[in-house]
This record gives sequence, structure tokens and C-alpha cells, in this order.
Amino acid sequence: MGYHRLQFIIKKYKTFILDLMFNKLKNYHSVPDWTRLKGDYIHGYGGFDIYTIKDFEYLEIFFKPLISFNIKPIKINYIEISTNIDPHIDAYPFTAVVNFIIEPADAITSFYSKKESITFENDELYGTGAFPPIKKYDNDDKLEFCDSFTSEAGDFILLDVSKVHGVEINEQKVRRLVTWRWGHFKAEHLLKNINILF
Ligand SMILES: [Fe+2]
Repeated sequence: MGYHRLQFIIKKYKTFILDLMFNKLKNYHSVPDWTRLKGDYIHGYGGFDIYTIKDFEYLEIFFKPLISFNIKPIKINYIEISTNIDPHIDAYPFTAVVNFIIEPADAITSFYSKKESITFENDELYGTGAFPPIKKYDNDDKLEFCDSFTSEAGDFILLDVSKVHGVEINEQKVRRLVTWRWGHFKAEHLLKNINILF
């Protein structure tokens, strides 16, 4: 067996069976008009801003032929990211998300493992007065880089947001996405319950 083939198999094994951090589900060739999706501002973490969906009918018309979920998400939101997001885990109860990238803003999303267990005292809340709190890790020597991915417009991506992750973007641009979020379910379990329809 060739070296590259072996590396490929190891990577697949690590990503899909042992430790799913993210899974690029599929790319669709077009994106919806975000101005019809961006609703009311809900809350943010300073450059990570969460909005309601303005036109739910438009959302359904666009996404219904593309993807369905056997497990109903807790939330569906439109999100704008305009700054780098430090390593963090998402707020309780969110464990897994599917993101649809409308504008990628040259983002690199990275996943980390904790070298040692970090106690709550070492965790910081992300942003002041942010609700709900997300745990932020900025002491780099306690984090070990695992894997990263870049994304394109039209990508559907499953992420395990209970694992430490961060995003670097081109801060001259705005990253725009639609996010479906689940709590309590592991990303591995969710993966088996996502139907790509195109
Ligand atoms: Fe996150």
C-alpha cells in the first residue's frame, strides 16, 4: 500500500470514526440571497453576530430540496463573522452544528485538543456580557492543533462544536452563513441522520 493511500486512510479513520471534528458534507453550486435571511439581531460575541431568519419561507424554498435532518435542530440562525474567533467551545447545550457557507471570507477553521484538562477557573467567558457564555481558551500552550479546513461558498459542513475550535478570517470581509444547531447529540450520531438530497 502506498504511503499517501495509507495517510488518506488514517486521516479518514481519525476524522470519521475515532474523532469527528468536522465533515464537509457537500458543496452546492449556488447560495441564497443573504439579505432575505438576515433578520433581527439576537446576540453576539464581538464580531460573531447571531440573527434570526427574516424570511423562513425563502429559507425553506432554498434548502428543502438540498438537505433534511432526521433529528430536528434546536435553532436555525443567520450568522455574520467579521473578526477572528479565538479557540472556544460553543455555549451549552450546543454540541453539533451544520453550517451552510454563503460568503467564506477566506476563513480557516481549526480544531484543537486540550493537552491537559482545563478547569473552569481557567476558562474565560467570550466577550463581555455575552449571552449565552461560551468557554474561551487563549492559553495556547494548553491547546494542541489537530486539524483545519477552508471553506467555499455553497459548502455544507458538520462541526462538533463541543470540541475546541477557532476561526481565522480575512477581516476585510464578512463571513456569512446559515447554521442549524443541535444540543446533546454527538456530531457522529447526527452525521447518520443528515440527508443530502442533491
Ligand atoms: Fe463556535
